[in-house]
Amino acid sequence: MNNGQEKVVYVGMSADIIHPGHLNIIHEATKLGRVVVGVLTDKAIASYKRLPYLTYEQRALIVENLKGVDEVMPQTTLDYVPNLEKVHPDYVLHGDDWKQGVQQKTRQRVIDCISKWGGKVIDIPYTQGISSSMLNQRLKEIGTTPEVRMKRLRRLIAAKPIVRIIESHSGLTGLIAEKACVVENNMKREFDGMWASSLTDSTSKGKPDIEAVDLTTRLHGLNDALEVTTKPFIYDGDTGGKPEHFIFTVRTLERLGVSAVIIEDKIGLKQNSLFGTVAVQIQDSIENFCAKIRAGKNAQITQDFMVIARCESLIAGKPMSDAIERCSAYVEAGADGIMIHSKEKSGEDIRDFCKAFRAKFPEVPLVAVPTTYNQFTEEDLASWGINVVIYANHMLRAAYPAMLNCAESILRHHRSLEASQEYCMPIREILELIPGTKN
Ligand code: SPV
Ligand code: MG
Repeated sequence: MNNGQEKVVYVGMSADIIHPGHLNIIHEATKLGRVVVGVLTDKAIASYKRLPYLTYEQRALIVENLKGVDEVMPQTTLDYVPNLEKVHPDYVLHGDDWKQGVQQKTRQRVIDCISKWGGKVIDIPYTQGISSSMLNQRLKEIGTTPEVRMKRLRRLIAAKPIVRIIESHSGLTGLIAEKACVVENNMKREFDGMWASSLTDSTSKGKPDIEAVDLTTRLHGLNDALEVTTKPFIYDGDTGGKPEHFIFTVRTLERLGVSAVIIEDKIGLKQNSLFGTVAVQIQDSIENFCAKIRAGKNAQITQDFMVIARCESLIAGKPMSDAIERCSAYVEAGADGIMIHSKEKSGEDIRDFCKAFRAKFPEVPLVAVPTTYNQFTEEDLASWGINVVIYANHMLRAAYPAMLNCAESILRHHRSLEASQEYCMPIREILELIPGTKN
């Protein structure tokens, strides 16, 4: 409890989309005393919902300049208690919507904490006719800019225990990645971004995954997805080609607002990694691959774009020491992250790699593609030190059997009645699926 004359009022907020509801809470707070606003950090917000549009610094700056705010401090957890113990407020004000849903527990913890020094929670009636979720929906409809989208991947890696990426090879799969959402313990779970896979880009064109589909062609599909989504993209750059060509790939992707390119340390005719040692896969020399990484890093214009090096040592049956030696060199050459790949089912090699790599590089982002060791959850991977998980081919692999079953059913029954009933979405649903199909 503050023993001076002036009472202290604490307000916690994300302040991503400021609306009259927030101003009303601050206005009410000013009537009670000195107003301290705890602005939630990206990490605190990402622990229970989507990453905010604005960075913490931008949001804190806005709040500092709101009339009636005396002080701004970071609130680094969804839980108010650590800040309340520091500030000892007489009052905590919040919109009364926190009496329901995911925030109920947070509210109770606030009450239990501040009642120790006689503090009180005041629930401010919800401002009618305005809601952050409605504004958020509208913002999503407007879309994003290449710059904002590109920066998002680095922010997600910094804010989340693990960033969840799913493959997208078309506008439609982009929409699924953008919108798919499940609610678990009152919290929304969504994908954080998309992977432009060389395997699915090639397969959807009926071509093998051997760099036969050129950049320009792949960009058509990527553009379709960029047009209808706002989440960040990671581009599968295969081997990156010649360093002289890779420079142009980096510039092109950066201009489009793609967040990262991943290039693999192979040479010659590239074959899909999941063939393992069944296919002849030759790794590049450390020296040459480092030169390619450097060429890419020197070509980018922004600070935000990421060149991630993918190590194929475990795929090629080389020992762990080779993977560590190569990845250390790639990081030293300027790679912004490492993708470590394996087709082992046990996942043990990846776990061992993470341990050894993390001992040397505690902070460098690590990417995993658990196609074969898919028994491990995101929580398992995060506990090994993985920062980004890519579900690299699942949209396409799910679509193919569904389409094949449908085609075979028509052949078998000499009509489409059975296929429509068993395998197809209703016509009404497909007409309503895409925004703007119907006015
Ligand atoms: C891709 O999705 O094209 C990849 C990952 O490169 S993998 O197929 O596992 O090699
Ligand atoms: Mg690939």
